[in-house]
Amino acid sequence: MICYKGILWAFMAVLFTGWFVTYDAGQFSEKPSKHSCNWTCMLLTLQWPGSFCISLNKPNICKIPQTVQNWTIHGLWPQRTGHCCDCWPIFHSHLQDIEPELSQLWPSLVKAKSYFIFWKEEWIKHGTCAGCEETMGSPFHYFQTAIKLRKLYDIDSVLKTSGITTSCDVSYKYDDISSVLEPLFGRNYDLQCVTDDKGRQAWVQLKINLFRNQTLGCHKQEQKQCFNTTVWLQSPGHPCPKNESIFYFPINYEQPHEPCNSSHFRKA
Ligand SMILES: *[C@@H]1O[C@H](CO)[C@@H](O)[C@H](O)[C@H]1NC(C)=O
Ligand SMILES: *[C@@H]1O[C@H](CO)[C@@H](O)[C@H](O)[C@H]1NC(C)=O
Ligand SMILES: *[C@@H]1O[C@H](CO)[C@@H](O)[C@H](O)[C@H]1NC(C)=O
Ligand SMILES: *[C@@H]1O[C@H](CO)[C@@H](O)[C@H](O)[C@H]1NC(C)=O
Ligand SMILES: *[C@@H]1O[C@H](CO)[C@@H](O)[C@H](O)[C@H]1NC(C)=O
Repeated sequence: MICYKGILWAFMAVLFTGWFVTYDAGQFSEKPSKHSCNWTCMLLTLQWPGSFCISLNKPNICKIPQTVQNWTIHGLWPQRTGHCCDCWPIFHSHLQDIEPELSQLWPSLVKAKSYFIFWKEEWIKHGTCAGCEETMGSPFHYFQTAIKLRKLYDIDSVLKTSGITTSCDVSYKYDDISSVLEPLFGRNYDLQCVTDDKGRQAWVQLKINLFRNQTLGCHKQEQKQCFNTTVWLQSPGHPCPKNESIFYFPINYEQPHEPCNSSHFRKA
């Protein structure tokens, strides 16, 4: 269904490769840069702070600020890009105007990693590839786009009003959660879980499938028609199993890596 657009994208890749060579004029070479703009799909990956620290496997390296109470952004990732680059510098001052929002919606939950270092890593790994799309054509615009999308999909209130609330005792069926998310995303999402030390499946990420024009779509089922690869990349967890109970753990600010091991939460 979307395959015929490949020709258009190939054409755009040529255009944009040229653009990058110009941009990187200091290191001009005859060889076209590997850094191309041929991608078609992206993922907005949101993470649940309540379970994120379980995925790190080590106590004490995680920190959840009290101000963080909702799903946060892990990243906005163009898919199948080849290599992105560190050729496009980002400075803290680029993000000044959106820093309060970024700090709220895209915090680093790793103690040793400052917010800006996290943002910088994401920019180098993913943003520099996204940046060939006009709407994300600078560090500021890339992060602003992610914030806009995060706000558009207000899953915190959707889950809450549908009765999917955090708990250490109550678990959900996969279908309970998908019936709440489908009206919002159709089939264009994936749930990721981590297994905690008691063998429970804890919901940790929500991957939202988008076309590069930021509309929903490009689910991997659809992509398979064109590309024979898997899109599971660089993120903690595994697809939530459809045949097991899924826990949506509360955030434990004191012991983020063991959200349900304190008696306080057991009673809740
Ligand atoms: C885009 O180009 C890169 C590098 O050449 C390649 O690895 C990747 O598979 C291509 N992606 C698509 C969607 O064709
Ligand atoms: C969390 O999300 C809810 C629902 O969208 C919102 O009302 C609330 O202000 C958010 N809280 C924080 C701390 O961001
Ligand atoms: C976004 O891109 C998809 C896939 O190319 C296309 O089907 C859709 O119409 C586009 N939406 C908008 C609003 O441009
Ligand atoms: C996808 O690739 C795998 C391994 O290269 C191959 O075994 C499989 O037949 C391919 N599937 C399709 C639909 O082309
Ligand atoms: C769920 O299915 C997977 C794969 O089919 C299987 O390995 C696992 O044991 C099943 N879990 C339960 C609780 O039935």
